[in-house]
Amino acid sequence: MKRTSRLFTHSLFGPVLKILFREGKMPSLVNTEIEAAVKGFLIDQEKMTEVVERMTKEIKMGLAKDTHSRAVIKCFVSHVQDLPTGKERGKYLALDLGGSTFRVLLVNLLSVSDVEIVSKSFNFPVTLMSGSGKALFDFLAECLSEFCHYHGLQNESLPLGFTFSFPVQQQGLSKGILVAWTKGFSCEGVVGRNVVTLLQEAIDRRGDMKVNTVAILNDTVGTLMSCAFYHPNCRIGLIVGTGSNACYVEKTVNAECFEGYQTSPKPSMIINCEWGAFGDNGVLEFVRTTYDKIVDKVTPNPGKQTFEKCISGMYMGELVRLVVMDMVARDLMFHGTTSEKMQERWSFKSSYISDIESDAPGEYRSCNKVLSELGIVGCQEPDKEALRFICEAVSSRSAKLCACGLVTIINKMNINEVVIGIDGSVYRFHPKYHDMLQFHMKKLLKPGVKFELVVSEDGSGRGAALVAATAVQGKAKL
Ligand code: GLC
Repeated sequence: MKRTSRLFTHSLFGPVLKILFREGKMPSLVNTEIEAAVKGFLIDQEKMTEVVERMTKEIKMGLAKDTHSRAVIKCFVSHVQDLPTGKERGKYLALDLGGSTFRVLLVNLLSVSDVEIVSKSFNFPVTLMSGSGKALFDFLAECLSEFCHYHGLQNESLPLGFTFSFPVQQQGLSKGILVAWTKGFSCEGVVGRNVVTLLQEAIDRRGDMKVNTVAILNDTVGTLMSCAFYHPNCRIGLIVGTGSNACYVEKTVNAECFEGYQTSPKPSMIINCEWGAFGDNGVLEFVRTTYDKIVDKVTPNPGKQTFEKCISGMYMGELVRLVVMDMVARDLMFHGTTSEKMQERWSFKSSYISDIESDAPGEYRSCNKVLSELGIVGCQEPDKEALRFICEAVSSRSAKLCACGLVTIINKMNINEVVIGIDGSVYRFHPKYHDMLQFHMKKLLKPGVKFELVVSEDGSGRGAALVAATAVQGKAKL
């Protein structure tokens, strides 16, 4: 597990949280006006219960044929109906697009205890995020070709699983139409098209490798599959990274948007919720702040991905920056002045929140490092306390909302025991995220429901290979 050390154990964490957020009364150095400014981020138990209720409605709408088209949480059918058996074998290629890096992987499933993964991350030029679709897919094919040639794979006919972490309406394991871009992407000519075709055409245009794209999957699905390979009780996959989303195992008969939902011999279907869009119809206004509205306006997809923008790593840092800038403007922090860097949009990375909250109470080693990276000099302890307080307000709201989402799904599944496979930089690197999620889920769940939060390694490697294996086996049977 790559997460940094935890500051609080679960048992210790409850009281600590209560002290920190006791009705906004901070027994600390934080100025009351700053406390008041972040109050909007502090959602109480009643509001959390309301979020669960509203989300439950939206998920049901996404699943049902009659309401799917107007639902905001789309609950896309993944076409993955088999969880891993542990008997999957073979060599697969995988591509991973949708987070902060683009990766190519070679996965060799040798046995349940022996999975070889070789991968390479490629620098993803930001200009590609808003360029043409053709340029994007040509770049992916070029990286794939470089990888295949480096490993001498160009003449092997390898199946490829494409982890494409955006909202996709799947019409099969190897057919997926992009519904909308999220997370800052806006490439032209891709929305409404089958992304598997776009990728395969780019590969074929090069004519220098024999790769065959057999499956497209969401990162949440890869995360669930990868975790289920080792934890047979894993039924939910969660990502809290650049974006946020979850998938879960639903009864096929409830997946009404799947053609064979009443006739399929297989009892289960993984549903990609695309929960990031929750609130796009206005039902989440009661947990949003004025800062959320400013962030939303400067994104390429205003009015979209409301829930995600409250939760995920792409936006948390900017939320903190906006609060700080507001406090500076009101002369409540940094003596009313700040650095040029801090004035730039998106300059406050979400990883800074994890760093700042990793300092023990009263210590500011990581905080000082962040401040110096941002060019902020000469600030006093109350400024550092205030900064930490703002970070905590943003990160704890994120964890609370995520807990609401998981509880909604667990209630919908109506199960008493579940393992949840999780990946993403926020979950992995924030020192208290795991504990906060666990704490709030326990408070919201019916007594007796047991759950385990497990870091899921290599969803886009092992997970993609497992889905590709399903696709290849499915074809072999036909
Ligand atoms: C965004 C994408 C979704 C993905 C999530 C996490 O919400 O739309 O498909 O799973 O980010 O990467």
